[in-house]
Amino acid sequence: MNQPTAPNRVREAGWQAVGIPRKHESAELHVLGQATYTDDIPELQGTVHAALCLSSKAHANIKSIDLAPVRTSGGVVAVYTAADIVGTNDCGPIIHDDPILSAGEVLYVGQPIFIVVADTHDNARRAARRAVIDYEELPAILTPQEAKAAQSYVLPPMALKRGDFQTAFDLAPRVVKGKLFVGGQEQFYLEGQIAYAIPKEDHGMLVQCSTQHPSEMQHVVAHALGVHSHKVQVECRRMGGGFGGKESQSALWAAAAGIAAAKLKRPVKLRADRDDDMLVTGKRHCFYYEYEVGYDDTGKILAAKVDMTLRAGYSADLSGPVATRAVCHFDNTYYLSDVEILAGCGKTNTQSNTAFRGFGGPQGAIAIEYIIDDIARNLGRDALDIRRVNFYGRAERNITPYGQEIVDNVIEALTADLERSSAYRARRAAIDAFNQTSPVLKKGLALTPLKFGIAFNVTHLNQAGALVHVYVDGSVLVNHGGTEMGQGINTKVMQVVAHELGVSMENLRVTATDTSKVSNTSATAASTGADLNGKAAQDAARQIRERLTAHAIKLYGADDGQPVRFADNAVHVNGHVVPFPELVQKAYLARVQLWSDGFYATPGLHWDPKTMNGHPFSYYAYGAAVSEVVVDTLTGEWKLLRADALYDAGRSLNPAIDIGQVEGAFIQGMGWLTTEQLWWNGAGKLMTHAPSTYKIPGISDCPEDLRVTLYQNDNVEDSIHRSKAVGEPPLLLPFSVFFAIRDAISSVGGHRVNPPLNAPATSEEILRAVSIVELGA
Ligand code: MTE
Ligand code: HPA
Ligand code: MOS
Repeated sequence: MNQPTAPNRVREAGWQAVGIPRKHESAELHVLGQATYTDDIPELQGTVHAALCLSSKAHANIKSIDLAPVRTSGGVVAVYTAADIVGTNDCGPIIHDDPILSAGEVLYVGQPIFIVVADTHDNARRAARRAVIDYEELPAILTPQEAKAAQSYVLPPMALKRGDFQTAFDLAPRVVKGKLFVGGQEQFYLEGQIAYAIPKEDHGMLVQCSTQHPSEMQHVVAHALGVHSHKVQVECRRMGGGFGGKESQSALWAAAAGIAAAKLKRPVKLRADRDDDMLVTGKRHCFYYEYEVGYDDTGKILAAKVDMTLRAGYSADLSGPVATRAVCHFDNTYYLSDVEILAGCGKTNTQSNTAFRGFGGPQGAIAIEYIIDDIARNLGRDALDIRRVNFYGRAERNITPYGQEIVDNVIEALTADLERSSAYRARRAAIDAFNQTSPVLKKGLALTPLKFGIAFNVTHLNQAGALVHVYVDGSVLVNHGGTEMGQGINTKVMQVVAHELGVSMENLRVTATDTSKVSNTSATAASTGADLNGKAAQDAARQIRERLTAHAIKLYGADDGQPVRFADNAVHVNGHVVPFPELVQKAYLARVQLWSDGFYATPGLHWDPKTMNGHPFSYYAYGAAVSEVVVDTLTGEWKLLRADALYDAGRSLNPAIDIGQVEGAFIQGMGWLTTEQLWWNGAGKLMTHAPSTYKIPGISDCPEDLRVTLYQNDNVEDSIHRSKAVGEPPLLLPFSVFFAIRDAISSVGGHRVNPPLNAPATSEEILRAVSIVELGA
């Protein structure tokens, strides 16, 4: 893996804390094992432990529950059911269809039925299994295909149409039709879901929990307890990963711990065991697609229709915004003139699927990539050429199906760079030659591009706040509404503040995200964490700097030619170089306010959910990757030999962190599309609920040759220091792995047959596709 280097652009003169590689603010604590996660917080005296009893049926009415064996189980302190919830029995983020505890009907295997509290974690878990539950079983819908057939949806289906698909399709010289299934994905954060609720005086509640969305946790706990939000404080210093799984679905755990703590007036910890976590919480939505596309002899798409059915699970959760993002990413980097994009959130008796890195974007875009791959094979052309023919233009063919004009398109140049640097054409020729003489091992190659819209697609969520304190000794404490899940938001926000105040990173500290410091925050999600909170923190720091500037001028006089500069831990004013702490002390004595709040709301966004039109994104991030694989066509085993990724992080705030994000997203996305298979048995029980049966990539799955480069490109929008978001978009880069596998399979039939390859491309799926190609060739 390559070493991050500073971008080789001309630096701005003077102090520079942004745009340079910096280690993660907690790097030392991480490697020393000293970083505090929720479960590491020293437990208060009197702390008790909760566990949840989970439904063993996919759809049933509960006829009766015998809790006596639970109550008499060793160490049990209390048992709470839905009837014990004082406030609202709901933890749904948008639509209130998400009971914290079942109120009589169970809708999936894994649905929580009651909370048991005991002296220890193990005693609570043991007791939870002792209930005798009599179920009246009801018919269950498990797959998106079944949901579509039954017209079973959690929300009304959505449609985005532009032009006249049917006429364009009927007139097209060539057509392709098909079906595709792309599986879901477990977030597999290393730190599982956890909440530690501590009762405070006068019905107050402090909840320490692992969450991407402290404000939502505050609201859900307040509603469940029947108190106002000001009685509930939620704090999260860091998560051991979230990946979207803690955007809404940390709520159940926070609420359950809060309910028990309020009842008992004792601190209650609820830490999910891995199997329970996987059985209870939602995952990335799997998608079932049916598509029809018309194109011409050059491979240009003339008409495209896709009908996507998501497995939403038993409740809506975030499925509406996920489906919207899928609809708005079906175009990926391609101009589609006459298009119909349909999406239905299938209601199934499974976990309620939720946010996962990319949030429907990857699922939308992979469908058009699959279609382009089909077209290329039908025409006997390299798929890269077909991609190029369809790329968005810069001055024309630049309006998305949802009406946003693309003003920052760099996909043409970026792809050309990568084609060159990866020696794509030469390697294609070498692979063709290899495959000619290798009957069993077949190599494959693919280059896939990405475009990803940055902003929450729910406009009002695009806001953030920060609180910056400068203490009298000149040290700086930074707080903001974003949450740290390993992605480095705190490091980036610290860089922004250090840059504004001209002080070094050692002078700064970031504290836990806390609803009592910054209120009404959005989830740290949609890759907007650093964009939004960086701007808010910059706003706060600037206000302090302006007050200090005014005071410095008062003390030392103004030099008209030379503005006051904050750099190198000093303030440069009218020929004087005043150490930062010295000016701060003088300002304090003169009663200058040394702390400030800050706020940011992304300008220019609007969206009409009815017409699915508007300007939902602030800007787009771009990227492309080339992957080369070798597939054993007798066993279905495969290996990624080399991957080259080029990602547009704008003017990167921190190239070291951004390269890490690209590498992580690449491997995580590769796992989604290859080895990570979620499998429910016929009774609707998820059987892959532990790492023994659910295979995330290991170190040996990472290619020895992984070349990640950041594309030098200033954001055209006035984003924080012209950087671009990096959290989610690179998850689309490993499409290249999937299509390289499909390319290797198709070589078995001399590239004449389109291998019907669903994701994940497990060894079994690869063998299935190989055998179909062999029969068809
Ligand atoms: N990186 C790490 N290490 N851990 C995570 O949980 N979550 C991803 C991405 N990168 C994640 C991560 C997701 S889903 C999002 S939306 C972004 O980080 C959120 O962080 P940001 O907006 O601050 O980039
Ligand atoms: N990403 C993540 N979470 C969200 C989004 C999004 O685009 N929209 C609403 N919640
Ligand atoms: Mo990320 S899926 O938006 O939390």
